[in-house]
Amino acid sequence: MFKSVFGRLLTTYLIITILVVATLTLVVSSIYKDAIFSEKRNNLEAAAKKVTLLTSDFMNKKIEAAELSAAIDAMGYSTGAIIYALKIDRAKFEKDQAFRVDGLNDTFVPGDILKILDGQTVFRNKQYSEDFGTYVLFIGYPLTVNERNIGAVLLFCPINDINQNVNQMNLAIWLAACLVIIGSMPFIYFNSRRISRPIKQIEIAARKIAAGEKVEDTDIVSDDEIGKLSKSFNAMKDQIELTEKMRRELIANISHDLRTPLTSINGFIQGMLEGIIKPEDQFQYLKIIQEETNRLIRMTSDILDLAKIESGSINLKIEEINLKGVVDAAISSLRFKAQSKNITFFGQGDPDIRVLADAEKLMQILSNILGNAIKYTAEGGNINITSENQGEMIRISVRDDGIGISQDNLPFIFEKFFRADQSRQTDEDSTGLGLSIVKNLVALSGGNLGAESEIGVGTTVYFTLPSVK
Ligand SMILES: Nc1ncnc2c1ncn2[C@@H]1O[C@H](COP(=O)(O)OP(=O)(O)OP(=O)(O)O)[C@@H](O)[C@H]1O
Ligand SMILES: [Mg+2]
Repeated sequence: MFKSVFGRLLTTYLIITILVVATLTLVVSSIYKDAIFSEKRNNLEAAAKKVTLLTSDFMNKKIEAAELSAAIDAMGYSTGAIIYALKIDRAKFEKDQAFRVDGLNDTFVPGDILKILDGQTVFRNKQYSEDFGTYVLFIGYPLTVNERNIGAVLLFCPINDINQNVNQMNLAIWLAACLVIIGSMPFIYFNSRRISRPIKQIEIAARKIAAGEKVEDTDIVSDDEIGKLSKSFNAMKDQIELTEKMRRELIANISHDLRTPLTSINGFIQGMLEGIIKPEDQFQYLKIIQEETNRLIRMTSDILDLAKIESGSINLKIEEINLKGVVDAAISSLRFKAQSKNITFFGQGDPDIRVLADAEKLMQILSNILGNAIKYTAEGGNINITSENQGEMIRISVRDDGIGISQDNLPFIFEKFFRADQSRQTDEDSTGLGLSIVKNLVALSGGNLGAESEIGVGTTVYFTLPSVK
């Protein structure tokens, strides 16, 4: 338990609470004890003063001896102290310390008497008294009659009585402290759980992800660091799931696209070996096998290209390029394909426009886009190439009047292996990798790629490249 965040929080909170409450309790009880003792001292001092006054009244014959004795008894009773009012002849006392009062044998007393006779008030907060067999609070007060110190008033108050009070109060304070600690337990428990639960939740989810299991989003809603951690964790989880989904789809697509031509090649070869295909037809089938093999070679090199671009292991040789030169080269490399479908190229851009790009990659971009325009345009169609200076960037557009792409499919044409019309994928020479390679290359060159299209009207694919200032 103490190895978990919850356990650690719980013990830390508990230790802090106990320490704080215990310290507060000690401080309060010591303040209380001091207050009680000082109040007691004040009471005793007041009583001593009163005894002095009464004695003075007695000596001046204002009150009777019985009255004095009764008053002193009453004060002793009310203060809980034993009171002595002693008349002492200083000279005699100094000479032989002749001081004999029944029951007053404590050794500290004679020393204090001298000070008292000098007019001082003596306090002893915790003095052991042999006479009383216990600790006492002692006060010695000068007995002054008609402005002359004629003796001492001694008060002995057993501490036990005071302590009993203090102890009772202490018990109450400690009891309250225990209640505070017990009362704070649920708060400490729930707060520790509130902090540790999300961490535990994320830890369990992370463990499941590591084991390849599917997990739900963590449902932690807070604005603090844990809430932010949870959000980042959910985003990371989604990204991992997406990557995993893409990996699965990629493998499924690649296996499917490899299996289809391989199956047909295998079928034709088997047909020839078993004599089902007649020798005079074999040339025609070997042509098909060659086409399929070329398609496989093209596809594997496209996949390798994409993998290289996506892993960031290709470096572009960016230089100033005359755009028209590359467009012309791309058109001429596709000339035969275009001628075979009677397709005409228009535009071809401003001869003075120069862009910052890698010549070889720009050629690859244009060949792919123009290749698509030819492939998806019917016999006798037109392809228009235009370039436009937008200041920082040059925008190159390739517009055809071909079959077009539906609005449903348009957002996906730059994704790997996406082919708009699923039915034509078997008989057409396409793998759906061209535009995703183009998208990556344009992005690497610092530009953007987009497309607009309408079924039956045509398609415009455009991209931008940095211009030469
Ligand atoms: N000019 C266009 N006209 C109509 N559809 C297009 C055009 N360009 C692309 N598409 C659609 O977008 C899809 C994806 O294009 P992409 O170039 O990536 O793949 P592909 O041409 O099918 O195969 P590949 O280029 O790998 O041989 C195409 O299958 C097609 O459906
Ligand atoms: Mg293509």
